[in-house]
Amino acid sequence: MSTLRVNLPGREYDIVCQKGILDKAGSLLRPILKGKLAAIVTDSNVEPLYAARVARSLHLAGFQVALLEIPAGETSKCPEVLCQVWEQLMDVGLTRTDAVIALGGGVVGDLAGFAAATILRGVDFVQIPTTLLAQVDSSVGGKVAVDLEAGKNLAGAFYQPKMVIMDPDCLNTLPNRVFSDGMAEVIKYGCIWDRAFFDHLAALGSRKAIMEDIESVLLRCCDIKRQVVEQDERDTGLRMLLNFGHTVGHVYEKAYHYETYTHGEAVAAGMVVAASLGTALGITPPEAKDEISALLRQFGLPTEISATPEDYRSTLVKDKKSQGSRIHLVVLEEIGKAKTLPLEQSRLLNMLG
Ligand code: GLY
Repeated sequence: MSTLRVNLPGREYDIVCQKGILDKAGSLLRPILKGKLAAIVTDSNVEPLYAARVARSLHLAGFQVALLEIPAGETSKCPEVLCQVWEQLMDVGLTRTDAVIALGGGVVGDLAGFAAATILRGVDFVQIPTTLLAQVDSSVGGKVAVDLEAGKNLAGAFYQPKMVIMDPDCLNTLPNRVFSDGMAEVIKYGCIWDRAFFDHLAALGSRKAIMEDIESVLLRCCDIKRQVVEQDERDTGLRMLLNFGHTVGHVYEKAYHYETYTHGEAVAAGMVVAASLGTALGITPPEAKDEISALLRQFGLPTEISATPEDYRSTLVKDKKSQGSRIHLVVLEEIGKAKTLPLEQSRLLNMLG
């Protein structure tokens, strides 16, 4: 088993990773959770695949287990489903010493995490991510939220889990498109932080080869995120680098009503635009765009998505990361090294055409 320690003062936790580790969830959690009840929140896709194994492992370790299921899909990440989960947690008898366990992808992790952060003013929370995107990104770092009509993730909190348990075997059941969705975030880490990792991904080049080296790929991504979050938990500086490709990616997601493109697909095309913008600003070497595009294509990700000037304008003026009329654009000084650049919205909109 491989372990990474996230060192946040008073909120330290381990990320543990091993094939088959779902069956050890109970014995891993028994020493760190104080309470008797473990309330698993999962979704209708994941429940038939993994819930019984996790529940059994928790039972064997002496926990009383409750299983809460939400419908699969982004539309569940909303205040209405959050209210239902709060009520169900009360119905199963959750007390302040008990724990909420998120078993699933990013939607389950974000929603269950926000429920854990707020129910009874906060109970212990554990992440068991089952998608690539959740394993390399959303389960680590403590961002939990639900979507509002006004936009994604607008009601949320920073609430760190007590442990993140990741089983790479869970990725075997993902459809190719969902695997590629996560690969966009994996490639992002190479772009912003680690040229050698970027080259390693290009050398692997396929889902099959990635899965043969999956533990080290997951751990490299989580270790980069760990370093970023330890230095900037609250997303006021360094953590913004994790948004490489996301500013323009959000435009694409929203322009197509979150239906046509996955988050990773939108971010993939957004990273290509961010590389072009960086080059136009004299910061990013011109060849970066082609190198990033080639790697994205290896994993079936789009390198271009069309949007209108109005799509760009309407989303970018509401960007959560903007300060006044300035947007913090993440650009690459080279592949493996990123920085944020405050840019006037009007200038960015002109550049995007
Ligand atoms: N997913 C970006 C972050 O955790 O900051």
